[in-house]
Amino acid sequence: MSLRQFMSLRPLTRTLTAMKNTVVHGWSETARVLGLQEDLYVNPLHRPLAQPVRAVLLGAGHRGSIYADFAAKNPAELKLVAVADPNPRRRLRTARAHGIPDERCFVTWDAAMAQPDLKQLADAVIIAMPDHLHTVPCLQALDQGLDVLLEKPIAPTEAECRQILDRARSTGRIVGVCHVLRYTPYFREIKEIIDAGLIGQVISVQHLEPIEHVHMSHSYVRGAWRNSDDATPIILAKSCHDTDIIRWLVGQHADNVHCFGNLKWFHNANAPEGSTERCTDGCKVEGQCPYSALQIYYRDRKRLYVFDLPEDRSRWDELIMDGLKTTDYGRCVYRMDNNQPDHLTVNILFREGVTAAFSMEAFVSYEGRRTRVMGSLGDITGDMESFTLTTFKTGKRSTWTMKTDAHGGGDHPMVRDWVQAVGQKNPALLSSSIEDSVESHLMAFAAERSRLQRTIEDVRL
Ligand SMILES: NC(=O)c1ccc[n+]([C@@H]2O[C@H](COP(=O)([O-])OP(=O)(O)OC[C@H]3O[C@@H](n4cnc5c(N)ncnc54)[C@H](O)[C@@H]3O)[C@@H](O)[C@H]2O)c1
Repeated sequence: MSLRQFMSLRPLTRTLTAMKNTVVHGWSETARVLGLQEDLYVNPLHRPLAQPVRAVLLGAGHRGSIYADFAAKNPAELKLVAVADPNPRRRLRTARAHGIPDERCFVTWDAAMAQPDLKQLADAVIIAMPDHLHTVPCLQALDQGLDVLLEKPIAPTEAECRQILDRARSTGRIVGVCHVLRYTPYFREIKEIIDAGLIGQVISVQHLEPIEHVHMSHSYVRGAWRNSDDATPIILAKSCHDTDIIRWLVGQHADNVHCFGNLKWFHNANAPEGSTERCTDGCKVEGQCPYSALQIYYRDRKRLYVFDLPEDRSRWDELIMDGLKTTDYGRCVYRMDNNQPDHLTVNILFREGVTAAFSMEAFVSYEGRRTRVMGSLGDITGDMESFTLTTFKTGKRSTWTMKTDAHGGGDHPMVRDWVQAVGQKNPALLSSSIEDSVESHLMAFAAERSRLQRTIEDVRL
């Protein structure tokens, strides 16, 4: 039996073992026994492409470099043919790594999209720029006959999301939205178990997104997503992954949404006595503060990608300290212009009566979504590293375990599906259609309206 055949039988063998109430073999265990890579994502509809998909990368920052890395590791599948980024170091790094000639390197996305021979040069564009730079480039790409890999959130407003949906439909082009969680082995397995009927009918879901306190401070207090007016509301910026995953697991359209949430801690009134504008200004409480920039970036060397440090580490001390003195990442978390809630809860009612409760929490010491799916015949409880399926009739428990990266190992499998969809001209190869993606965003917009207006909101695509 070929590996591909074996992999395609995996849901079946797992279903059979669970039905016999034996332990479901962890995939990592199976992979170890067979000497295979742990997360071998195999979609039986994938096939070798005659030529790699040629893409223009718009935005070579944190996310853009993940897509560039996929191209570097899989040259038969994806080739970067042009890049745009105002940051010269990122632009150059990408150009060098992918052999992109100078005349195909651009400072801004609009110059890259204005190349007269764009349609001959490329099949697609990858949009990995800040949230407010998604809509116009996406619409332009679709109008020019190119497919798109679009970072989430699709766009900052509901109207723009609908515009992109309409344009994708009218042009017939592919828009893959980077809902990476769907591609994590953890959520794929849970979805397979639900679809196999092992917990009967889904009745309700509880889902927790623990952002982790330092991650919160980095991205949503100090970072580019701290203010919903400049970026998007946090329910969209961070949690549209969760509205998508909940909707996907439930397998129904959402009907109504309700949300509470606010910014309770990270604001001026909570600035401790003796604190200063920057952690480097002689703050008297720096030694006790869990959000000390000196601690996070300088001493612990965490989340350094925002400083664009050179490979030569000999200057890192000086450059990180310079970053703390000149960028937002050195500012006191209680003295920012942030407005994103640091905790919120969302209730969702689905069309056929399923309910879901979702919480986003900043004040936790850990990351990794926690999920509970309650069904008529059993339940699933998980934490992104492992989950347990319990069958009510017998009380038997089956546990599945796998350790992955922060995105649960979903990034590259997601790109692979998109590359295959573009290469085979078949949007059905994507886990999430643009309709599904827009609906999950509408759930988030509805939650934000509810939070601000204290209403129960409808969700209608
Ligand atoms: N899928 C996910 O899980 C996930 C995770 C984090 C971020 N995101 C989203 O991905 C997108 C990018 O986020 P990031 O973390 O990579 O940010 P980033 O700041 O690291 O990268 C964005 C890049 O866009 C470049 N850019 C800015 N203006 C530009 C312009 N006019 N033309 C070309 N390039 C321009 C910036 O210089 C930067 O290098 C955002 O929309 C973000 O919300 C998605």
